[in-house]
Amino acid sequence: MFLRHSLRSLAVVFLLVALVSVLYTPAIAQVAGQVPGDSLGATSDSEFWRGIRQGNAGQVSIPNAQAGILIQSEGDNWRAVRNGPLSAYGAVALLGMVIVVALFFAARGRIRVEAGLSNLTIERFSGIERFAHWLMAGSFIVLALTGLNLLYGRYLLIPVLGPEVFAAITELGKYTHNYLGFAFMVGLALSFVLWVVHNIPNRHDAVWLLRGGVLIWGGHPPAKKFNAGQKILFWLVMLGGLSVSLSGIALIFPFQTSFFADTFALLNGFGLPLPTQITPMEEQQLNQVWHTAMSLVLVVIIIAHIYIGSVGMEGAFDAMGNGEVDLNWAKEHHPLWVEEIEEKEAAQRHSPAE
Ligand code: HEM
Repeated sequence: MFLRHSLRSLAVVFLLVALVSVLYTPAIAQVAGQVPGDSLGATSDSEFWRGIRQGNAGQVSIPNAQAGILIQSEGDNWRAVRNGPLSAYGAVALLGMVIVVALFFAARGRIRVEAGLSNLTIERFSGIERFAHWLMAGSFIVLALTGLNLLYGRYLLIPVLGPEVFAAITELGKYTHNYLGFAFMVGLALSFVLWVVHNIPNRHDAVWLLRGGVLIWGGHPPAKKFNAGQKILFWLVMLGGLSVSLSGIALIFPFQTSFFADTFALLNGFGLPLPTQITPMEEQQLNQVWHTAMSLVLVVIIIAHIYIGSVGMEGAFDAMGNGEVDLNWAKEHHPLWVEEIEEKEAAQRHSPAE
């Protein structure tokens, strides 16, 4: 009786031990990096993890195919470029331009109207022209500040404001940036339509450029409504603005565009060996780097423009302020344009309709 009871207990214990060992053996094997059953399988663990680390895509049953990529290694490169050379060169360029403008002001002073103010005025920009300029300029300035905050705010503002205030400001700034981008595009398009005819290069531009414009040497090279320097600014703003707008749209609506693959394919038509198999994620990364780099270039240029359109040149701001400039200012900076206006007015005075 006792023997039978003991044997039964022993059998139960044996079964329990067998069960526990069956349950735990695979887990222990996996912790040790082995495939259950001690066989190596088709791929070794190191190959398997290397594949994941290098961005190999697995299969997923959800619609988001990108979820099949567990580690997206290009992101490391993108972050290194954004937080490294892009931020560093951008900061150098921005500070560099501020220093250049300050040195220029120290050396050249305010550019005066040589003949003195005449106190007679001539209309330089109509209401719609000023509206277009200020829509473009006002939105650009807010976009620049909110954009620069995304790039440099964490270094400059967190130590001063603390993380909570910085986070609140940055969130507000991000939404402002996204919506105001469209106002900038409208201002840009309107300015293009209104001014493109005045910005087609002509023979006077070469003379203007050779004589260094009024800025460096003084003197008054001939110019129509816009001089060569202004035409360069116009085309930089238009082409740079378009490029920043397109890359901005690609960032607001992610994974919908293939601007880089398309552009590279186009450029390859001229013999360049650029990659055209670009993943949606890489498109986003390229768009982000391009958007930032082009915006920094524009901001650097616009610092010089704001200087010359305000404190740097006597009488310039009025053109975009009330639309009227002093006649002597106009004759000195845009003599051919004044002649055109005066001829037009004379023709109107003598037209048979009057
Ligand atoms: C406070 C900021 C700004 C001031 C004071 C300012 C001032 C001026 C003035 C006075 C003019 C007319 C120059 C003339 O009569 O010939 C002008 C023209 C122009 N501005 Fe601005 N501006 C500012 C910001 C901007 C911004 C942010 C942009 C572009 C993103 C811009 C783009 C232009 C363009 C394309 C022209 C026509 C070409 C030229 O005159 O150079 N401006 N601006």
